[in-house]
Amino acid sequence: MICGAIETFNLLTLKLWWKNPSRARAFSGKIFRDYMSLVGRDRWTSRSISEILPNAKDSRIVLEHLPGDGIFNPIDELAYLALITRYLEPKKVFEIGTFRGRTALNFALNSPADCIVFTMDLPLDDRESLSNRVNAADAAIIKASETGLYYRGRPEAGKIKQLYGDSLVFDFKPYAASVDLVFVDGAHDYRCASSDTRNAFEMVVEGGFIVWHDFSNYGDYNDVTRAVLDLIPSGKVIQIENSQLAVYRKEAGDRLRSH
Ligand SMILES: C[S@@+](CC[C@H](N)C(=O)[O-])C[C@H]1O[C@@H](n2cnc3c(N)ncnc32)[C@H](O)[C@@H]1O
Repeated sequence: MICGAIETFNLLTLKLWWKNPSRARAFSGKIFRDYMSLVGRDRWTSRSISEILPNAKDSRIVLEHLPGDGIFNPIDELAYLALITRYLEPKKVFEIGTFRGRTALNFALNSPADCIVFTMDLPLDDRESLSNRVNAADAAIIKASETGLYYRGRPEAGKIKQLYGDSLVFDFKPYAASVDLVFVDGAHDYRCASSDTRNAFEMVVEGGFIVWHDFSNYGDYNDVTRAVLDLIPSGKVIQIENSQLAVYRKEAGDRLRSH
């Protein structure tokens, strides 16, 4: 957080801390994402969605307007996830971190009719103890999780398979090399972000995508960026410009970096 403040400090930062300190924490990350979209390449590459998916022109997507409920995942990020889903036409999607099901529903709405959307969240009966090992921001999210609330009752819910487990110990082997699109959006500490990234890498097929949320932030979520860059082959992580989404497309021969 301090590094972010030093790197991005300006007079507006100071004004925001004065006027609305609760929102000021996110400001450094926003400024940094603006910088990345303008510079294009620094610690990683930042590209527009049209550059990342050049053949997705004319794609149509479906979005359901739902509140974030404390999750900062604005409508443009949902639209990018929907476009990636349309583009890939996945048979299998795997999401780590369901929360209320807004993104799981988004995958179901934009994937082919025979797609299965696996989405996992912590076991319902053990959340209290598991939330003790994460940072305060994640503990608040776990507490507010009403798993699947937003897809329940929708026609597309039939495509969604809810899984329960702690991603740090969950057995991902049955999904190895079989998933077209993995979305990593669970806990944000380094241990979880790197373990989820390793498992995502094992699950995704060649030509498939891993997408991370909460990339390019400071403070509580900074570990996601570090874990992804530590593990994913150098130069292959692309941030969707001005968003907290980063994507990686697996190619033949790709290996995780040893870290
Ligand atoms: C940021 S929210 C997911 C938001 C959701 N993808 C969306 O945009 O609507 C993170 C979720 O991950 C879950 N979670 C945290 N740690 C986890 C773990 N170790 N294993 C599985 N799920 C975890 C939390 O309970 C929370 O619901």
